[in-house]
Amino acid sequence: MTVVILPFPAQEALASDLGVLLEPHGFDARVGRLDWRRFPDGESLVAIDEAVDGADVVVVASLRDPDALALALRYAAATAREFGARSVGLVAPYLAYMRQDGRFHPGEAITAPLFAGFLEDSFDWLATVDPHLHRIPTLNAVFHMPTRCVAAAPAVAEWVRTTVPDAVLIGPDGESEQWVADIARRAALPYQVLSKQRRGDRDVNVSLPDPDLIRNRTPVIVDDIISTGQTVVEALRHLSRSGLRPAICVTIHAVFAAGAHENLIAAGATRIVSTDTIAHPSNAIPVAPLLAAAAVELLRGASKDPPNR
Ligand code: R5P
Repeated sequence: MTVVILPFPAQEALASDLGVLLEPHGFDARVGRLDWRRFPDGESLVAIDEAVDGADVVVVASLRDPDALALALRYAAATAREFGARSVGLVAPYLAYMRQDGRFHPGEAITAPLFAGFLEDSFDWLATVDPHLHRIPTLNAVFHMPTRCVAAAPAVAEWVRTTVPDAVLIGPDGESEQWVADIARRAALPYQVLSKQRRGDRDVNVSLPDPDLIRNRTPVIVDDIISTGQTVVEALRHLSRSGLRPAICVTIHAVFAAGAHENLIAAGATRIVSTDTIAHPSNAIPVAPLLAAAAVELLRGASKDPPNR
């Protein structure tokens, strides 16, 4: 089975790792070149510099800046099909838009299912890492195409267990409990979850933990996403007011809106670590092996049951 992996910018290393990891599973995988350039007026031009006729194509794009990527993704998938690709899958280590899974204020769009529909107009399958599913129970609730959600917990747990053996894991809000509890269990470490009130995009209040339970341990704040950083900044401030040791921050998705990383350092984070679902200097925990296993299953499914488009 011939697989052509087409990486969007900043995804070349992941694409190459995936190629290597697919080979032992019997795939003849090669990384092709996907050029994406912008005209001075902002319009996108995508070019596929690789033969894809008869191949199963895997587009690799982390959706950190989804509005900028959206049209280029669609153009890439459609062009691969025009050139004869048998199937076109998407490996999106970070899947955007899943947090807007409800109408929080009158009139708002519920973008999680809308974005899912947009992606499945172009792709036959999707593999991603820990999408922010809260009110949506599983990806199947919003996607109809085959999907695989890879959990970063085993990789994060291994990093914490070996790097900070005296850690207490701290979830900064109730939504983080699903990740923190799993990581704590795998690493055999204690955890606590704080409660958060969000008053605005950059206005967040977090409750105090019980300091006595965690005083002699190194706090490791774990959140699935750090975006503005406010959730974790509040958690850092409360831990520091409680007289606890300086904290380490670990996130699965290093979204880091402007100023977020600096604000975490200013709030006392001694170290900020992320998985490499979004390319960032804080990346320390690779997810390629987890994504490769998911891609193997999805590619096998696509070969048995070719997409009917
Ligand atoms: C929300 O529930 C997520 O788990 C994160 O806590 C949130 O997205 C972080 O956002 P920010 O960094 O903007 O506070």
